[in-house]
Amino acid sequence: MSERRLTVRCPAKVNLSLCVLGRRPDGYHELDTVFQAVGLWDVLSAERAQGIRLDCDLPELPVDERNLVNRAARMLSERFAGGGAGAILHLSKQIPVGGGLGGGSSDAAGALLVCNRLWQLGLGPEELLPLARELGADVPFFLTGGTARGTGRGDRISSLPYAGDRAVLLGLPPFAIATREVFARVAERLTDVGNGVSVSVLSAHKWPQENDFGGLVNGLEEVVFEGWPELRAFRDALLEAGARAALLSGSGSTVYGVFPGSTGSAAAENFVRARFPQWRTVQTRFVRDGVQWDATGGRFDGSGGDA
Ligand code: C5P
Repeated sequence: MSERRLTVRCPAKVNLSLCVLGRRPDGYHELDTVFQAVGLWDVLSAERAQGIRLDCDLPELPVDERNLVNRAARMLSERFAGGGAGAILHLSKQIPVGGGLGGGSSDAAGALLVCNRLWQLGLGPEELLPLARELGADVPFFLTGGTARGTGRGDRISSLPYAGDRAVLLGLPPFAIATREVFARVAERLTDVGNGVSVSVLSAHKWPQENDFGGLVNGLEEVVFEGWPELRAFRDALLEAGARAALLSGSGSTVYGVFPGSTGSAAAENFVRARFPQWRTVQTRFVRDGVQWDATGGRFDGSGGDA
C-alpha cells in the first residue's frame, strides 16, 4: 500500500478584479471577483499511513489543524471514511504565505483531490465543492482554475473565457497582510449592502477579445493603500515600468502587473527591484489550470515536482 504516492501541483491566483458589494449576516462580505490562476506552484504529495500527518519544507508554517491541508484531509476522512483513512502529506511551498495569492486555499483544494484518490473515495465535484467552501472562501476556485468569476463569499464559481497567456510580475513586500484585518477595515466604511452592480466583472468577458486590462479594479485597495502606502508606490512603479494594469491581489500584500505578451516582464522586474530592494519579485504567467495531477501521472517520481 505504502508504495502508492500521489502528487498534485497547486497554483497561485491573483484577483483580476474584486468588488465588495456589502456585508453579509454571517460576517463575511458579498464579493464579485474574477480569479486568475498563475503559474507559481506548491507541490503536495500523499501516501497512505496510520493517522493523518503533514510535513512542510517551510518551518514557520504550522502543520497542525491550523493548516488547511491538515483540516481538508481530516474532514474527508471523518465524513467519508469513518475517520479511518490515514495519510502522510508532504507540502513543498513556493507560494508566499499571507500574500493574497491563495496558496493555503490552493493547497487545501489539492488535499481534497489527492486524498479522494489516495483513499479511493470516488467523490465528484458535487461532494467536494461543499467541503471546499467550508474550508475557505477561496478554496473552490482552485478546483476549477483558469479565469473564473467568484460571487457570494467568492466561493460560488463560474468559469469565464480564459484571459490568455499573459506575462505577470508579482511583487511581494517583506510583510504579510491578514485578510481578516483588511475586511474589518472595509466593514467600518460600508454603510449598506450596495446595489450588486459590478462593472469590472462584466468587462472581464471582453478581455480575451480586446486585450484590454485597463479597467481592472480592486475594492480593497483603498483601505490597504491607506494602511500600507508602500504598496501604492509599488503599483505606480509597475505602471511606470510599462504594465498594462497593476493591482493589489485580493487583500494583499501582493501587488502585480500584467504585461504585453511579446515583451514579458523582465525589464520591469529590473526597474522595480532597483527601487524596492526589500521586495521579492516573481515573473510568472496566467495559466489555465487549477490544481492538477503531477506530470508523472499522479505517481511520485522522486523529484519532488517541478515547482
Ligand atoms: O474564508 P477565509 O477563511 O479565507 O477568509 C478569511 C477572513 O476574511 C474571514 O474570516 C473574513 O474575516 C474575511 N472575508 C470576508 N468576506 C469574504 C472572504 C473573507 O469578510 N468574502
